[in-house]
Amino acid sequence: MSKDYNKYFIKPSIKDARKRINNDTQTIDFNEYFNIKGFGEGKTYALETFGCQGNEADSETISGILESLKFKKSDSLEHADLILLNTCAIRENAENRVFGELGRLKKYKRNNPDLILGVCGCMPQEEKVVEKIMKHVPQVDLVFGTHNIYKLPEYLETVILSKERVIEVYSEEGSIVENLPKIRENARKAWVNIMFGCDEFCTYCIVPYTRGKERSRDPKAIIDEVNELIAEGYQEVTLLGQNVNSYGRDFIDRSYSFANLLEDLSKLPIPRVRFTTSHPKDFDFKTVDVIAKGGNLMPYIHLPVQSGSNEVLKRMNRKYTRESYLELIHYIYESIPSVSITTDIIVAFPGETEAQFEETLDLVRQCHFEGAYTFIFSKREGTPAYHYEDLLTFEEKKSRLHKLNKVVNEGFYGGTKRFEGKIVDVLVDGVSKNNDKVLAGYTENNKLINFTGDQSLIGKIVKVKVTEAMTWFLRGELIE
Ligand code: SAH
Ligand code: SF4
Ligand code: F3S
Repeated sequence: MSKDYNKYFIKPSIKDARKRINNDTQTIDFNEYFNIKGFGEGKTYALETFGCQGNEADSETISGILESLKFKKSDSLEHADLILLNTCAIRENAENRVFGELGRLKKYKRNNPDLILGVCGCMPQEEKVVEKIMKHVPQVDLVFGTHNIYKLPEYLETVILSKERVIEVYSEEGSIVENLPKIRENARKAWVNIMFGCDEFCTYCIVPYTRGKERSRDPKAIIDEVNELIAEGYQEVTLLGQNVNSYGRDFIDRSYSFANLLEDLSKLPIPRVRFTTSHPKDFDFKTVDVIAKGGNLMPYIHLPVQSGSNEVLKRMNRKYTRESYLELIHYIYESIPSVSITTDIIVAFPGETEAQFEETLDLVRQCHFEGAYTFIFSKREGTPAYHYEDLLTFEEKKSRLHKLNKVVNEGFYGGTKRFEGKIVDVLVDGVSKNNDKVLAGYTENNKLINFTGDQSLIGKIVKVKVTEAMTWFLRGELIE
């Protein structure tokens, strides 16, 4: 394959990605924009997804576009004609994993020179990554970012038919593209994007640079999508956004908030509505009140706190305090007594003292979190915290993570233990990972539960009595 890329060669710039221009977001219709051609006929693809639910949702769109072009999903990486890696840039180890995988995939390219190898998602939004790929992994034929997935057909046309390499990454987001085709991974549970991008600029985080300005989807487009999912038999939707609580803030012609959206969705005949991720700064009491009405709004809230120290929160640019976070948590517990709350925490943020770390441990105990994703701070080039002085040794950082995880695990166990003896509603997902005679599903509070039952129950919501609480999951007995 030729390595020219005359037609498509746009590299990203983290500096440009920081800009926020206050223009109104345009919406384009994929169907009008692109005339799908069947040049994938007879070819197969494999797609590997790294990172968050946003990327999982994007991968469903990528599969949708590929299958519209008549590509078929390959049964293995080895036999695929096209391999795409949809990547995550959130921490250094996430990026290392992708470079490791690219190294591993080189051999397939050696065996099959016609194999097309592509990298997309958040990593290509960083100029450093694109330069590294160009220099060290010349086997990659196609690089595009998070803002131009809808242009995949023309990129593939260029790579396959013109045999030219394509590198095209936009640093600034353009429009919202509606009516993109999707092949959803799950037949009962669906991701629904309600917004794109992030305007928070937490000082450690790369996402505002890789995903661009915050743009909310039209409520009607969201409600229409959920109605279509209902017609297809879906039982659960998870609304996606980096800060769902700021949904609608960018509308210039109307006032419509996340609470309004939840209220409207609560009227639709779908059994379960979930959402992620919430930001404590923007989670208003009105939204809590709407969730407290119950119905199809599930009693589960993921509310990342990041740190329990006001000084650290300030340096992270989180724009709330320990006190305001605790006030919100108390209001949630008071209003929704059955709720399960989980969180994200970063340890060893530059300058975090032992006393400030202890404040985080104390806050975790006070909040009764029923789970947490915990991370050691990872330096991301282009973010303000990249330049903050980082004095702790790796051993000290690991020791803080270890101490935190001990407290977090007590919370996990407390969160399953409280359900022992209770009857819970379970959406049956499939058979258990470890035993195909056992069914697995999730409760309303998002707890994994295993129980014996017939496979015909998959996709249904059933009542199960909890018989035993383990740290990470429940065991139960089907009661109807
Ligand atoms: N938008 C969401 C999630 C963002 S990424 C939110 O605001 O909560 C998921 C988690 O990764 C974050 O909550 C944070 O805990 C962690 N994270 C983000 N950047 C990080 C970094 N540079 N180092 C370590 N953890 C990080
Ligand atoms: Fe990153 Fe903060 Fe935006 Fe979450 S809210 S994506 S942590 S910048
Ligand atoms: Fe990773 Fe991008 Fe999501 S950096 S966490 S895949 S928004």
